[in-house]
Amino acid sequence: MRLEGKSALITGAARGIGLAFAEAFVREGARVAIADIDFDAAMRAASKIGDPAHAVKLDVSRQESIEACVATCIDHTGGIDILINNAALFDLAPISGIKRSSFERLFSVNVAGTLFMMQAAANAMIERGKGGKIINMASQAGRRGEPLVAVYCASKAAVISLTQSAGLNLIEHGINVNAISPGVVDGEHWDGVDDLFAKFENKMPGQKKKEVAAGVPYGRMGTAQDLTGMAIFLASDESDYIVGQTYNVDGGQWMS
Ligand SMILES: NC(=O)c1ccc[n+]([C@@H]2O[C@H](COP(=O)([O-])OP(=O)(O)OC[C@H]3O[C@@H](n4cnc5c(N)ncnc54)[C@H](O)[C@@H]3O)[C@@H](O)[C@H]2O)c1
Repeated sequence: MRLEGKSALITGAARGIGLAFAEAFVREGARVAIADIDFDAAMRAASKIGDPAHAVKLDVSRQESIEACVATCIDHTGGIDILINNAALFDLAPISGIKRSSFERLFSVNVAGTLFMMQAAANAMIERGKGGKIINMASQAGRRGEPLVAVYCASKAAVISLTQSAGLNLIEHGINVNAISPGVVDGEHWDGVDDLFAKFENKMPGQKKKEVAAGVPYGRMGTAQDLTGMAIFLASDESDYIVGQTYNVDGGQWMS
């Protein structure tokens, strides 16, 4: 029960990694807001988890939605102790084919969404005066570029940079900002990634997943559950002295 009595707001928690975080946080004693643009899925997830979870409609690319979500969470639980910036979008294209609309969509969700969710939650944490924990979801894609993944890679590099700046700026208020950098995590997200690689690299469905799994030193793709231990640690008091760091949880893919 390392998060007993804590209130967590998790963006993009209706499925995948965010949902695994929500379930794990509830097991550790937290109350969790499942905030997602897919409100029906968020409600299904919350009702499956039960009483400590509630669903909130959120579009992290819209400022009024961010403010409404933070206000709803504070009304519901009395304050936010933990924010996980998990919502994100992915796209694939060679440099020659990147559409401006794709760039703007990914940056408004992955980068501006992360920044302005941090701002709204941090302002509420500062006003309450009890500190807090912010965890941003980066990616191994943020550690170096990839030929077909320029926009997503750049957006995740920006998340790593924002984590450093916000970490340094907010620690004076007792707010720890850190990030998790997963490698390749199987689930609905990677089903979509596999489809895109099938199209752009002329592969059979499922082939890209097999290739990336074979390349992981641990010997397989990750699961959402592989990431929960790091999230619980970064959300708990045990991480109080950790500021602005990005931790690889990727089966040995990246060494830094
Ligand atoms: N799956 C991987 O291999 C992998 C690897 C590295 C990093 N990550 C990162 O981990 C996080 C979670 O990944 P996942 O695999 O669970 O993704 P996912 O696509 O399965 O889930 C993302 C969730 O975000 C929600 N969402 C999308 N746009 C939103 C918006 N504007 N506002 C609010 N919610 C929105 C979606 O409805 C969905 O529920 C993401 O930040 C992703 O970039 C994933």
